Amino acid sequence: MIKHDFLIIGSGLAGLTYALKVAKRFPDKSLAVVTKAAANESNTKYAQGGMAVVIDTVTDSYEQHIEDTLKAGDGLCDRDIVEMVVREAPDRLNELLSWGAEFDKNTLGGFDLGREGGHSQNRIVHHKDITGFELEETLLSQVSQCKNIKLLSHHFAVDLITNHHIKEWKGKHDNQCYGAYVLDEKTGKIETYLSKIVLLASGGIGQVYQNTTNPKVATGDGVAMAYRAKASIQHMEFVQFHPTALYDTRPGQTFLISEAVRGFGALLRNKAGALFMETYDERKELASRDIVSRAIDSELKKSGDEHVYLDCRHLEPTSFENHFPNILQKCKELGIDWKKDMIPVVPAAHYLCGGILTDEFGQTQIANLFACGECACTGLHGANRLASNSLLEALIFAHRCYEKSSELIHQKDKIVNVLDWSEAGTTNPKELILITHNRKEVQAIMSNYVGIVRSDQRLNRAMNRLKVLYEETEDLYKKTKISPQLSELRNLITIAYLIVKQSQARTENRGGFYKEG
Ligand code: SIN
Repeated sequence: MIKHDFLIIGSGLAGLTYALKVAKRFPDKSLAVVTKAAANESNTKYAQGGMAVVIDTVTDSYEQHIEDTLKAGDGLCDRDIVEMVVREAPDRLNELLSWGAEFDKNTLGGFDLGREGGHSQNRIVHHKDITGFELEETLLSQVSQCKNIKLLSHHFAVDLITNHHIKEWKGKHDNQCYGAYVLDEKTGKIETYLSKIVLLASGGIGQVYQNTTNPKVATGDGVAMAYRAKASIQHMEFVQFHPTALYDTRPGQTFLISEAVRGFGALLRNKAGALFMETYDERKELASRDIVSRAIDSELKKSGDEHVYLDCRHLEPTSFENHFPNILQKCKELGIDWKKDMIPVVPAAHYLCGGILTDEFGQTQIANLFACGECACTGLHGANRLASNSLLEALIFAHRCYEKSSELIHQKDKIVNVLDWSEAGTTNPKELILITHNRKEVQAIMSNYVGIVRSDQRLNRAMNRLKVLYEETEDLYKKTKISPQLSELRNLITIAYLIVKQSQARTENRGGFYKEG
């Protein structure tokens, strides 16, 4: 058994920020950050747009950012949480700056503030079009200087350890988290990690769909583990589809064309070359994401086309190229000359607005288990996340989790007798291809039946098909030694099930959720 004071699952912005703060405050305590791929592989790394913060209270105000967030969330945000996040944003930005993060400046030396859908003002601080990459690198560099943090890449958290894994547990006391079972991918061994405090910062779920802006690692592991541990999981029906992923016929991670490009003045046209957003919303290209994605979906259904276009040809070249070098490089690689050609785009799964229910300090319903970042449902996003509120949410809640867990760490250790992981009755898998097939099937079911526009009939179909996959996979799980592939498949099936079940239960359309009558 391996013992730490703090166990952090995930190495994106939320997990690393929390780890850094805790490590600095408690130099005598030990922390492990476990992450299933390379240390920098996370949704954070691919975030392009930036972070929404009210900087200039003459042209902007906290009230406007609060109202924009509430409007996007379509009546389901928690107003207190929204107010807290918006008002604490400048402090968190200053902290990032003190750690060395760099954001673009304008000619007057102030921040170059970008704009995205649903924002009534320019308020997005950004590092070119690779803001997430800049933050990830900054945090990794800070964390590497902390001697009390063990950053363990290629370590896959398989399940949380709760009361159910304690030998003498009689089902009497409230559920508590004691650590996690973690697969060391190099040795193939599942180790028991015990920890007083556990933070889930395991990111998103995009891989449950065929086309997603999320990397391969985004398989909803944290949400699925928390669900198995009996934490409350909410708002799973609110999957946000980004309106403009680069059109690509190959399934997998699709390249994002940041909403900030529309904020810069790019226009959406259908294949016939006509502008269409005006007929859907008076804010046109800068309506909130749910509205723009549905508008594109409706255009595609009407025309039978496979994509629409993002037209940038009229934009001022110097500043456009300066702001979006990464996106324009990608277009160039694909032979798209943005000055002459329009960029083909389609909506793709992008962000989970729901997740593990937490309070204002990131505490879940399981004692000593915290969650923050995309895997958490904090009340900020409601039915639809406002653009560039997610990096902000990760920072704010990492800080709040840190504050609360700094109090809890002083609790006396409960002596418990935790069961080790048992592999009894399992054998090495003969082939992994069945797992690959089932993963593809889950993605096809979700893309065909649980996309931007849903119906009860399609949801029922999805549920029936998922049941078959669930039974097959559980059978495999009972007989086979755990591998990351098998674990991810189980987690994806759980995520798909939760999205379908919570979509079936929702009777009114809100924000990013739309079910036909
Ligand atoms: C984007 O750059 O369009 C994505 C930003 C976000 O998801 O908030």
